[in-house]
Amino acid sequence: TTVDIDPAAYDAGEYDSFMYKEMLEQPAAAERVLRGRLDERFGTAHLGGLNMDPRETRAIRRVKILGCGSAYYVGQMGAALLEELARIPADAEAASEFRYRNPVIEPDTLYVAVSQSGETIDTLLAVQEVRRKGGRVVGLVNVVGSAIARECDGGIYLHAGPEVAVASTKALTNMFLGFALLALQLGRVRDLSIADGKRLIEGLSRIPGQIAQILEREDELAEVATRLAESESLFFIGRVRGFPAAREGAQKFKEISYRHAEAYQTSELKHGPLALISEAVPTVAVVPDDELTSRNVGALHEIAARRGPLVVVTHEGVDLGEVAAVRIDVPRNERELDPILLTVPLQMLAYHAALHLGHDIDKPRNLAKSVTVE
Ligand code: AGP
Repeated sequence: TTVDIDPAAYDAGEYDSFMYKEMLEQPAAAERVLRGRLDERFGTAHLGGLNMDPRETRAIRRVKILGCGSAYYVGQMGAALLEELARIPADAEAASEFRYRNPVIEPDTLYVAVSQSGETIDTLLAVQEVRRKGGRVVGLVNVVGSAIARECDGGIYLHAGPEVAVASTKALTNMFLGFALLALQLGRVRDLSIADGKRLIEGLSRIPGQIAQILEREDELAEVATRLAESESLFFIGRVRGFPAAREGAQKFKEISYRHAEAYQTSELKHGPLALISEAVPTVAVVPDDELTSRNVGALHEIAARRGPLVVVTHEGVDLGEVAAVRIDVPRNERELDPILLTVPLQMLAYHAALHLGHDIDKPRNLAKSVTVE
């Protein structure tokens, strides 16, 4: 069973849908989650709501992130940020599965519940399972005073503002930024240098403007989306930092366009899905400029050799070789922060595909904004 938000209680104003309005609100929402939390002097983040002193913060040996759907995928991005910046082993798990495997709860693990609504029952029950066994949980939650926010030991509010569309956009972006703040703070009580802290703060400050730059390229993205919408089935691929972005891209696309969109790790293509590649099955590939670029480009060749149409989300200057591909360049930032900038154009692709197909953007069939009953 699910509970719906009543869109009538809000106003999409001049926009055709809440999803569109909420996508465009992202630069402002991103500024809000960062505001007052960046400490440029010490290259760290201030997160008073975590309710943890530096000694407790230092004692953390592991981070386990729990969320559902897109919140889980952003949780994977968050785990990578925590490992890279704070050098703490971290992973994300679907909150809907967590409690059914009788998880071991460790006192030196920090559990992080991530949720836009703060009402998702599976995430709430996962939080209760952890707390019942004596674990510490902090929340990355958008809705103030929601059930999950109340149940946690502390947290970071996302300040994205009300999100009405079932397909989450601005809340997810702010979840990523919330994880970046958490990783910065945890990193700076450990081995992250002040120089690296400052480098990330500078990168974070550029994110709102860079999201705006991507959104300004709507016409170009709409054209690509219209072509993708013609296919019944698509792949979204990426690896390491690019893989959660591919998962989220596929999720958004399938939610509102009703096309079969499957995310795969680029490295796993040859272990199965390559069999499906043909002229009829396009691939959206996430290829950031990083240590894996040449390997990723190698995989694009494999797809092109099987006449699979390619859309590549990448950085300016990345050499895709002879591969025939539509390319979407996103602005460069610090590598650790790439995942969110790689995700924003994928939202636009999903939105324009659904618009082209004439679907209800805000209330896709069979789905509701928050799933509050098991
Ligand atoms: C996002 O586009 C989806 N509608 C869905 O996966 C969502 O992220 C998930 O249900 C979790 O919701 P929450 O963030 O409110 O907990």
